[in-house]
Amino acid sequence: MRGVGVRVTKLSTRLSALHTYPMAEIPAIKRRLLQQGADVIDVGAGDADFPPPQVAVEALNNAVKDPAMSRYGFQLGLPAFRQAAAAYLQRRFRVTVDPFTELHPLLGSKEGIAHLAMAVLDRGDVALVPEPGYAVYHGGTVLADGEPYCYALTPRSDFLLEMEEIPRDVLQRTRLVYLNYPNNPTAAVAPLDYLVRTVEFCRRHDILIAYDNPYCEITFDGYVAPSIFEVEGAREVAIEFHSISKSFCMTGWRLGWAVGRADVIAALARVKNYVDTGAFLAVQAAGAAVLEKAEELVRPYVAQFRERRDAMLPVLRGNGFEPDTPRATMYLWVPLPEGLPSAAFQKRALEDVGVVTLPGSAFGAGGEGFFRIALTTATPRLVEAAERLGKVLAAV
Ligand SMILES: Cc1ncc(COP(=O)(O)O)c(C=O)c1O
Repeated sequence: MRGVGVRVTKLSTRLSALHTYPMAEIPAIKRRLLQQGADVIDVGAGDADFPPPQVAVEALNNAVKDPAMSRYGFQLGLPAFRQAAAAYLQRRFRVTVDPFTELHPLLGSKEGIAHLAMAVLDRGDVALVPEPGYAVYHGGTVLADGEPYCYALTPRSDFLLEMEEIPRDVLQRTRLVYLNYPNNPTAAVAPLDYLVRTVEFCRRHDILIAYDNPYCEITFDGYVAPSIFEVEGAREVAIEFHSISKSFCMTGWRLGWAVGRADVIAALARVKNYVDTGAFLAVQAAGAAVLEKAEELVRPYVAQFRERRDAMLPVLRGNGFEPDTPRATMYLWVPLPEGLPSAAFQKRALEDVGVVTLPGSAFGAGGEGFFRIALTTATPRLVEAAERLGKVLAAV
């Protein structure tokens, strides 16, 4: 690009305030190790190795043959997708919503979560951000010129964000809180009484809840994850995000939806009008097809995640780690010995034994002291990874 006569533009203060995205550098490091002939086991990203449902592949295949599917979807998108998402919410959570005013298709839930902040925050407004947490809560807030207030999720409070503990002066400026249960990365779940008191608190303080629910179908041992809208009064203060990514192993298809108050949904749609022109309509047709059979399609995936969890946990424990048994998500949140920095452990795991994990610190300062394992590869490889990680632990 030399000689084009354009000076390098300075980065915005907003962007400069953000760290490198946690997973941004891992693919390059992994590639380097693979080129060097290393046997790498990747349990980093929450991106399982299972194929998507056959129903999705067939629906996409059929849909692309229709030239109408190649047109812009705009914000309306495919009505059948909206209707299938609303029908799923009704069946699964007994939540009734208008598919055209209270529900909105997203290009994966990530973009909706990020863009929501642009719709509801002004400079000086605070968003409560759980740490450890999905990086987009912090990033979306900062990019929207909002002010993140980080709350540490710890075992002391069962990894729940307790609104009562937020200082008064912060609360007065708080417009938004991000909640995510079943939780990434801690795998914590939220008891119903917690959700009830949180909704009640947010109603009293006029705070919008962004309830991020992409793991609601990946649950074990009889646990069933709720929608925030099962709580009375939540419809006044919440917007919920759903995704086809994790439930149906369709991360790359980029499809999700937001559901909630019509005015908040309309505000999000207004932002998106200036940012995107809708998910590929054929992908929305595939999304509608899987949602129609959601409960049946998730079952084999959940069974395999559970099998992986149950195979890996004893090996981790036998190698000096003390993880809890998660009741949901595809993650194990593993404590490290006192004083061992998670980034240093992750580096040793990657470079010494070829295991890609994510350090707790990648999820914000509150994640220090832990690392995350994603159950995204075959059981024998997970067992092997646990043994290799044990060697790193023994050597530090
Ligand atoms: C907590 C949480 N929310 C949202 C997402 C975004 O998922 P997607 O954009 O694929 O729907 C992820 C993905 O890792 C996540 O872990």
